[in-house]
Amino acid sequence: MGENATSIVIFGASGDLTHRKLIPALYNLYRKERLPNNYNIVGVARSDLNHEVFRQKMREGVQEFSADTLDDALWTQFANHLWYVAGDATKTEGLEAVLAFLRERENGPSNRLYYLAVAPTLYEPILHNLGELGMDCEQDGWCRVVIEKPFGTDLASAQKLNQLVHSVFDESQVYRIDHYLGKETAQNILFFRFANTIFEPIWNRNYVDAVQITVAETVDVGHRAAYYDQAGVVRDMFQNHLLQLLALVAMEPPAAFNATALRNEKVKVFSAIRPTITTDTVRAQYEGYREADGVKPDSTTPTYAAMKLYLDNWRWQGVPFYLRSGKALAGKISQIIVHFRQPPLAIFNSHAANDHSFAPNCLFICIQPDEGIHLTFEAKLPDSTSETRSVNMEFQYAEAFGACLIPEAYERLLLDALNGDASLFTRSDEVETMWGIIDPILHNWDKPEAPPLVTYPRGSWGPTEADALLFRSGHQWHLGCGCDDREA
Ligand code: BG6
Repeated sequence: MGENATSIVIFGASGDLTHRKLIPALYNLYRKERLPNNYNIVGVARSDLNHEVFRQKMREGVQEFSADTLDDALWTQFANHLWYVAGDATKTEGLEAVLAFLRERENGPSNRLYYLAVAPTLYEPILHNLGELGMDCEQDGWCRVVIEKPFGTDLASAQKLNQLVHSVFDESQVYRIDHYLGKETAQNILFFRFANTIFEPIWNRNYVDAVQITVAETVDVGHRAAYYDQAGVVRDMFQNHLLQLLALVAMEPPAAFNATALRNEKVKVFSAIRPTITTDTVRAQYEGYREADGVKPDSTTPTYAAMKLYLDNWRWQGVPFYLRSGKALAGKISQIIVHFRQPPLAIFNSHAANDHSFAPNCLFICIQPDEGIHLTFEAKLPDSTSETRSVNMEFQYAEAFGACLIPEAYERLLLDALNGDASLFTRSDEVETMWGIIDPILHNWDKPEAPPLVTYPRGSWGPTEADALLFRSGHQWHLGCGCDDREA
């Protein structure tokens, strides 16, 4: 018997995600000869398009959003496998039409990857219909479903969604996406920690003073206001991306590099996060947010948050993890900074501070842009007797590996889903444990004693309250990758 046909079915094919991320990623996988030989990519949406119009739209998406230039001949070969079925997959008849089309194209045993790139309100009817029509069945090949974020809006809704998903698919068939896990630089955190011997012995409370995680964006809510005003920065960024980054920094070495071991360790980290006290949180809105189309005029949705978290475990007891994220900020930057402790005795004069303490060694893990890792350390200032200066030890991806080698997160994630590797996807218990951290923070913000919602100017680094949060514990936010980068 020949090789199974593999169908990649994208629900929500006329949406942004499909032409900006999914098709460019699939085209790049094709270009790199990483797609299965016999594949079909079937876009499903309600818009009345035909195959040709869909192909043309997707071509424009690749031209605009793929880092590499489009090769006409390759595109034509790729596009021959690209199809469109107009229909409403939330209705049985709509999905029946999709199934009939798939059967015709597959013409025999098949593997199927369903990608839910639709609004979360449509997950339920589509999943239900997939079950009803037996499209979850793995009789002659594999069958998997990829679910985009947000996965629920709180713990209860995430549990409900997990129950629904599990009523149709086995957990081993489910791939919950967090695109931060697909970023090369995020994956490299584990390689940095566990493919080297020299960092792990100092990666704990005895040597680490604090950890900072910043995901700052310059964009505002733009045309996503209607969704965003319901969600806010904590649901949109903290519940997934920031907590995932925290887990990669804080987790214990897994016994093996596989989905079960990795995800077990991440769940342990999330379970160890102490309930956050409200005074350790800051919430803010950029000025003018309430005037945006789709935002309620009296909206209290934060577009920025900062918080201090502690992990109650042996490795991290007493070490603050500072997390912050916001929109309409001064720069786009995602980075993790590990601050090490001061040396026990100051026998030299530091140039970096007035109080004879040294700038602490800091390890900057720059997720984006300027992907790299930098370590600051003190050096003797030339031609002085006992003065020091902070200097950088640098690793830049572009310099070490060449600029074009960093693939888009979705490329890696789609390939992993096709190959059945769920390591970079979120497991059901993981997503629920993460909501268990976030829910109380959001509930506490509804109470009278909650910190007030403050505002911050567009193009700033956020409200001064976020600086005060760190200052109280003798810390300061850092920006950029290297020394001399403390925010003014
Ligand atoms: C998404 C959020 O998950 O991540 C967006 O919904 C945000 O609001 C985006 O802009 C940021 O991703 P990246 O890869 O640009 O840092």
